[in-house]
Amino acid sequence: MTLDPTNIPKHVALIMDGNGRWAKERGLPRIRGHEVGVERLEDIMHAAGDIGVKILTFYAFSKENWKRPEAEVTFLMNLLSAYLDKKVADLNKNNVVFNTIGRIEDLPEMIQKKIAKAKKETAQNTGVIANYAFSYSSRLEITRACQEIARKALKGEIKPEDITEETVQNHLDTAGMPDPDLLIRTSGELRISNFLLWQISYSELYVTEKYWPDFTREEFLKGIQEYQKRERRFGLTEAVERRKS
Ligand code: FPP
Repeated sequence: MTLDPTNIPKHVALIMDGNGRWAKERGLPRIRGHEVGVERLEDIMHAAGDIGVKILTFYAFSKENWKRPEAEVTFLMNLLSAYLDKKVADLNKNNVVFNTIGRIEDLPEMIQKKIAKAKKETAQNTGVIANYAFSYSSRLEITRACQEIARKALKGEIKPEDITEETVQNHLDTAGMPDPDLLIRTSGELRISNFLLWQISYSELYVTEKYWPDFTREEFLKGIQEYQKRERRFGLTEAVERRKS
């Protein structure tokens, strides 16, 4: 597969969907789909590092996912816990920075501690930044940004007329990161599902029929190839030079 090395997206966001259906089609319990799904994370991080994608944001667990059957939620929490125990060494080996977005404070305390440790242990790495969205809701993220800005306005630290798009951007969980250039969703669903609503204003969207457990390196590269065929206009009338952010 040939890719144009001068047109690699800096930031790719991924909605990892279809674990349950993948398992069901094979007569396996849903949780087996999540287990296999975790294995794909590493493939995608490797591929991203190889081609020069700098940031990956994975939608691992939404705020709404807490409403799933208790057994599935427990399984996902155990999977995350095991991932943090076993995989941080691999992240380090691959020079990956582990980062999170979302309401980490909603997670069991033991997992919060492991997340803090993983962040600390990978902070010095210089390769791909892997953002994991846990207990994430984009509407809630924007609401919390509004609350924080309002608090600052009340304290007189900012005037309402000085609040700009940049102010809001700087109060989101993704503050300091460029917006995703590309959003990938697996399993064919044509929905955003409350993911990065602010940040994907001008992202290219790529939806593949593949279920997440089947989303291999090759499938990821297909998404990048498709991205390279797009003409990004950012609301203008002709192709503009890609943003330098
Ligand atoms: C969507 O598939 C997937 C999820 C809700 C969880 C995604 C999580 C992982 C891939 C692994 C967790 C990550 C870590 C780091 C441990 P679905 O269950 O909604 O599938 P369906 O739509 O076919 O039912």
